[in-house]
Amino acid sequence: MRSIREIKNIKGKTALLRVDFNVPIKNGEVEDDFRIRAALPTIKFLIKKGAKVVLITHLGKDGTESLYPVIKRFFEISKIALEKVTFFDNVRKFLGEMENDQAFAKKLSAMGDIYVNDAFSVSHREHASVVSLPKYLPSYAGFQLEEEVKNLSHAFKNPKHPFLFILGGAKFSTKMPLIKKYLELADQVFIGGALANDFLKAKGYEVGQSLVDDTNYGISRILENEKLILPVDVIVKSQDKLINKKANEVGKDEIILDIGKETVENLAPLIKKAKLILWNGPLGKCEDGGEKSTEEILKLVSVSKAESIIGGGDTVALVSDMKMEKEFSFVSTGGGATLEFLANGTLLGIKALE
Ligand code: 3PG
Repeated sequence: MRSIREIKNIKGKTALLRVDFNVPIKNGEVEDDFRIRAALPTIKFLIKKGAKVVLITHLGKDGTESLYPVIKRFFEISKIALEKVTFFDNVRKFLGEMENDQAFAKKLSAMGDIYVNDAFSVSHREHASVVSLPKYLPSYAGFQLEEEVKNLSHAFKNPKHPFLFILGGAKFSTKMPLIKKYLELADQVFIGGALANDFLKAKGYEVGQSLVDDTNYGISRILENEKLILPVDVIVKSQDKLINKKANEVGKDEIILDIGKETVENLAPLIKKAKLILWNGPLGKCEDGGEKSTEEILKLVSVSKAESIIGGGDTVALVSDMKMEKEFSFVSTGGGATLEFLANGTLLGIKALE
């Protein structure tokens, strides 16, 4: 990837900058502006070099959402003068974007002189503004994209040891390749969140009404791996009460909400000893009151001496809520993109810049 630092002279030229300002919106306001802040160094650099910047982003799945709250927040926090930056409309509003239509990509390219991708978190999508636009213009990687590639690569290119991988959240199918890969690369792989329910169930434990993914992904073979660590106790919701129980004592009507106290205590020394911690996905059902252990583990990781790499939309939202972003070595802006990059070592949008 060529860096924007290599651009010779862009004074007066127009840079089409693909950012990912797909941020949560609530009551017409941006709830979390982490992704917007992450793109500011690149935007400010291009402006300082005299370029005109056109920002291209999507918001939401289908392009129907207005960019207004995003634009408002962008100008509030960036303090960039209105005339320095233009926003292209929500790019998913145009059918050609998600269909990766070449005519659409060409039309986009006609708006600028160079293309910059600073949208790591959407770089796993085969969309026109991600993979095709760079074919029609001199193309570069923005600072955030470079940082994501550099930092996340530490997990699979000569990782430091002891290396602890913590994986939570749901969506078993997207995480199975990661579990397999990091059972080889890491020294311990701790599984929490809804993923752990599947493992506990495969062990023959009752998981009650907890969220499980019943597809058979060959869990039983993984269960034999000595690097695998599962919760020994859990917090369950039982008739509106939260109870800490042994993982093998969950009742038929109960729902597992979080990992238990003993599990957190068992993880603490591993976190302390680790030189590298990679973490993706919450360890409990945060939206239902199961966020405590994730918060506690975040605190433990933040004070450990390990290089700490945190990713995944929900985990990062908690980090952002707790105002702890600066306390980790690297916090990724990606959700699905981070998982795919960690599994495959590259993304379509990155390859398009090479
Ligand atoms: C994300 O939020 O992970 C990215 O913006 C990609 O969004 P998508 O999953 O709708 O493609």
